[in-house]
Amino acid sequence: MLDIEIAGIKMKNPLMLASGILDLTKESMESFSHAGAVVTKSIGKGERKGYKNPTIYELPYGLLNAIGLANPGVEEYIKEIEGIKVDVLIGSIFGKDANEFGYVANRMASYVKAIEMNMSCPHAKKLGMEYPTEEIREAVEMVKRAGKPVFVKLGMENLMERAMAAIEGGADAIVAINTIRAMAIDIDAKMPVLANKIGGYSGMAIKPIGLRCVYELASNFDIPIIGVGGITSWKDAIEYIMAGARAVQIGTGIYYEGKEIFKKIVSGMRWWLEKNGYNSIEDVVGIALKK
Ligand SMILES: Cc1cc2nc3c(=O)[nH]c(=O)nc-3n(C[C@H](O)[C@H](O)[C@H](O)COP(=O)(O)O)c2cc1C
Repeated sequence: MLDIEIAGIKMKNPLMLASGILDLTKESMESFSHAGAVVTKSIGKGERKGYKNPTIYELPYGLLNAIGLANPGVEEYIKEIEGIKVDVLIGSIFGKDANEFGYVANRMASYVKAIEMNMSCPHAKKLGMEYPTEEIREAVEMVKRAGKPVFVKLGMENLMERAMAAIEGGADAIVAINTIRAMAIDIDAKMPVLANKIGGYSGMAIKPIGLRCVYELASNFDIPIIGVGGITSWKDAIEYIMAGARAVQIGTGIYYEGKEIFKKIVSGMRWWLEKNGYNSIEDVVGIALKK
């Protein structure tokens, strides 16, 4: 009933662990057994320490973070994911140019079912949302050479242009959205809260924005879409699927609901499908687009 296929990858349900949340170690990723797929932390060519603390701050309706793409580098990370027991592992990668993206994708490819290219981190300059739109196509083409389906993760900025470039490069799916560039100021210290000053906002506050982005992508392009941003309940997941997402990712929701969020959303979605007489989640994908 909840099983779905994206770019030839079969998932037992459309819920995926979003990149960057409890996905640095094998044990942590294996603990998400109720997720249809698990996306790794974004991994680059070499080790990155990331930004100084504070890197994360809780706001009333979500989280503000600027971790700075901290990761051990691809050689160390592939030792971590070797032999991992998860149903579907997606490898998230980032790079400063097409060659670096291609290198990391090649090293990661034999351990994962698909590659997710992070081109949308809102506080990492060219390693994120400032990756030039005119270079996206070449980078996707390079990653495709690793022989795995390629998902391209984009943010809300210039989304249609960037999605078009990714599709021209051969992307198999678009993932949207990343966190949204934002900040908070400590009025006692009279300075920004995060050490990096600017970070990315995630969680329930961004759900209407993510939803709108998915709806617009689905209205404009014929490519599988994976929706992400602010999902904390099964109703949120159904909304994204009605807007055109074939699958959804959950990150900050885990901070509020715990790892059990996957189990809860699976049973809520199943209950809703039965109540509404649907045999498959497939029948719900994009139904709001037709109204
Ligand atoms: C602490 C933290 C770290 C993140 N790290 C990454 C990352 O390494 N790569 C990436 O593509 N997205 C990263 N994200 C973004 C999430 O994958 C997701 O796109 C975003 O948080 C919106 O979804 P959510 O509201 O469910 O968290 C991170 C988000 C958070 C909160």
